[in-house]
Amino acid sequence: MASDIPVWAVIPAAGSGSRMQQDKPKQYLSFQGKTILEHCLDRLLSHPAIDGAVLALQADDRFWQELDYQADKPVFITDGGAHRQHSVYSGLTTLQYRCGNDAIALVHDAVRPLVSHDDLSRVIAAAREHTAGAILAAPVSDTLKKQSDDMEIAATVPRQGLWRALTPQVFHLPVLLNALKQVIDAEQAITDDAQAVELAGYSPALVAGSEENFKITRPGDLALAEKIWLDQRNQQNNE
Ligand code: CTP
Ligand code: MG
Repeated sequence: MASDIPVWAVIPAAGSGSRMQQDKPKQYLSFQGKTILEHCLDRLLSHPAIDGAVLALQADDRFWQELDYQADKPVFITDGGAHRQHSVYSGLTTLQYRCGNDAIALVHDAVRPLVSHDDLSRVIAAAREHTAGAILAAPVSDTLKKQSDDMEIAATVPRQGLWRALTPQVFHLPVLLNALKQVIDAEQAITDDAQAVELAGYSPALVAGSEENFKITRPGDLALAEKIWLDQRNQQNNE
């Protein structure tokens, strides 16, 4: 894959954040004076390899306009859908409309504001090398147990060679667009973007990424994210 193909962030941000149990979707909760979504955009758009972003928002989103987010790179908005895969697909079709097929789509959850520039650089480089794309992932470190129907341990699952899929997940635009279209047409449920690409017969590359890049999901996660964010800022100031 040529190194001059533009890279665009595609950010699904149309979820309701039900597990977070707050009065607004979790991407609009704030720490250090900015919403999670703005922290995410800041991280991605300040990376020199990323040319712009497409945001998929709930059709009746009341919060984005109010933020008046300013960036020196383009940010396009589109409507998300019922499930994450529909929101990503909507973002990809907007990207295709704006840029044509010669683009690399870097799909990143709106609620992972702690991804490092180093991890972004490495997953982008891997995606340029692999037709099937590349994802950030973390090796499983706990022992895995399979449960029986009565909540006893039925088996220990060897964790050797098992990874947790993170985002960004980065693909040449037509590969992911076609793979997601097949999944959506077949009404298949998937849990990440790579799974759609795998079902289309490709094998995306795994790139080991930092565990700090976690997905804000439950109430205690916001304080943890702020702590990691401050640690990362202090570390940067000391470099
Ligand atoms: N997402 C989306 N469209 C949907 C559902 C989810 O764009 N229909 C986005 C979320 O906004 C989030 C990302 O996908 O950025 C990861 O999803 P998740 O962590 O599950 O967020 P929510 O679906 O909002 O949370 P919950 O599952 O707790 O309701
Ligand atoms: Mg969800």
